[in-house]
Amino acid sequence: MRAVEIIAKKRDGGELSAAEIDFFIQGFVRDEIPDYQAAAWLMAVYLQGMSRQETIDLTMAMARSGQMLDLKEIAPLVVDKHSTGGVGDKTTLAVAPLVAATGLPVGKMTGRGLGHTGGTVDKLESVPGFNATLNTTAFLNTLAQHGIAVTGQTPDLAPADGKLYALRDVTATVSCLPLIASSIMSKKIASGANAIVLDVKVGRGAFMKTKEEAIALARLMVEIGQGVGRQVRAVLSDMNQPLGRAVGNALELKEALDTLHGHGPHEFLEHCLNVAGQMLILGGKAQDAEEARAILLEALHSGQALAKFKEWIAAQGGDLAAVDDPSRLPQAAIVQDVPAPRAGYVAGIDAMEVGLTAMLLGAGRAKKGDPIDHAVGVVLRAKIGDDVKRGEPLLTIHANDEHKLAQAQERLLAAYTWSEEPVQAPPLVYEIIRSD
Ligand code: URA
Repeated sequence: MRAVEIIAKKRDGGELSAAEIDFFIQGFVRDEIPDYQAAAWLMAVYLQGMSRQETIDLTMAMARSGQMLDLKEIAPLVVDKHSTGGVGDKTTLAVAPLVAATGLPVGKMTGRGLGHTGGTVDKLESVPGFNATLNTTAFLNTLAQHGIAVTGQTPDLAPADGKLYALRDVTATVSCLPLIASSIMSKKIASGANAIVLDVKVGRGAFMKTKEEAIALARLMVEIGQGVGRQVRAVLSDMNQPLGRAVGNALELKEALDTLHGHGPHEFLEHCLNVAGQMLILGGKAQDAEEARAILLEALHSGQALAKFKEWIAAQGGDLAAVDDPSRLPQAAIVQDVPAPRAGYVAGIDAMEVGLTAMLLGAGRAKKGDPIDHAVGVVLRAKIGDDVKRGEPLLTIHANDEHKLAQAQERLLAAYTWSEEPVQAPPLVYEIIRSD
């Protein structure tokens, strides 16, 4: 087999065999196939697409390019969730302990934020001492002992994906369904969970801007999971406006904590109940969404979910004093309310612009490895559909720099659109996609 023949076959619209895909991916990881050939192959895939079987074979080739975790020794069934990325998406921080509190183990490897989207690892690291870089043994031990573990992805998990993604980024081949689906699913499959709930975001602040694109991605990922014997469901959820109210690392952690205390934003709790509910159904703890909701509300109201959150934070080295007293979380030097410039109904909040503004304040990174400021960000005081009076606080900016504060204020005000007429808030969930 020769790499050039595999590139030519894909260029001409042929269907690659599992052996050809595996040869190409393993050769690329071992540096036997150079970047220029991999780049040509990626562009051929981008232009010609891949069949369902090719996408499954690519996913498994990437998953097998590194360590494949087997969690069966930890528990018969471990669940995971994955979000395709959004603004204000702190779902894992509340959902992981909520689900684990019901007795279903949650083991998750997750990412750092990049661009306008935040990352769970960064949010968790706003708790002083929290260790979000567990090695495999520590990850497995924490999961076995506490029924919950969340860590940054280890470098030996699906290394082909990391290497290919870097190349996709600079060859205009990121936005390609089979490449996105196989990239996400290879990491999920290698990290070992038997049941995975995918939170596929759709809207202005998401990767997938239209419902049609998001449904296509969700279906493909569910099919890949099914094709390799994992249970997968996808929740198609709104990302036209930020999720919840807080955008920024420590601010989001606090919002998740408020939610576990029972006084978080209503719409964020509802989203968490939707995602966690699907995890409980896949994990065999509930027959349907109604039963799952009742179990989850019991875990929340009894304080078990909050107790599990604390157990988890302590198990990974986090300072519980900051959980008990969130004023000990990183705090910005400047906290400024921005009044509504007019009266009216909020018609839209451009999630992408809010995410980029949080990044400008220092909450996110423009490129991999950039430092971030855990304290800064934005809290939205009004969301789509709210009836706002002129001069009422519209949002609160947490900043550590006066110049950035002024820029953020201007951009955030421009991110809001208004209506004289009442506006319906968008649905939280558009659709649930299941393999059956
Ligand atoms: N997230 C991933 O992990 N991979 C992609 O290709 C896109 C989003």
